[in-house]
Amino acid sequence: MNDRSLQVLVSADEIRRRVAELAGQIERDHPDGPLYLIAVLKGACFFLVDLVRAIRRPVRLDFIGVASYGRETSSSGRPTLTKGLDSSVEGADVVLVEDIVDTGATLEYLVNYLEQQKPRSLRIAALLDKPERRVRPVAADYVGFTIPNRFVVGYGLDLAEDYRSLPDICILDR
Ligand code: IMP
Ligand code: MG
Repeated sequence: MNDRSLQVLVSADEIRRRVAELAGQIERDHPDGPLYLIAVLKGACFFLVDLVRAIRRPVRLDFIGVASYGRETSSSGRPTLTKGLDSSVEGADVVLVEDIVDTGATLEYLVNYLEQQKPRSLRIAALLDKPERRVRPVAADYVGFTIPNRFVVGYGLDLAEDYRSLPDICILDR
């Protein structure tokens, strides 16, 4: 880890403020009925927990696991499910909570899977968006920060399981 340099791109303070704004938007868009927030393991867990604590209405949580094999810092584009939902979300409002949308392959796959579960509505919250890298035609409804095409770590985002616990989102130079 020592031969790599980290540069803060989004500070913990900026993240906190933006997450509170997104929580307010999610609250306004879902005034009634059961609301599930579904985090994509493992990177989105930090974002999920902060979001949930800022939303002042009852929410339910679930987790979904997906792996894109054959990548180090770029996705193979062939996601597979490693963990499905524990709960039925049929007829409920769902917000899928993702750490970052890069090529969009993961999101496209998950949206497809979730739509088969017949929710009343499905929206997507992505903490980070790298639009320059988009290959699949997907877009998030709530975006924390649009960022340049750099590999980032921290606040849940990892490189091979390292760096997740950094409080800021940092560009990792290798
Ligand atoms: P996509 O399928 O190409 O959109 O990739 C999405 C997944 O790749 C995310 O859920 C992340 O796990 C991972 N990923 C993409 N870009 C980065 C990054 O800059 N840092 C850490 N993980 C990333
Ligand atoms: Mg991920």
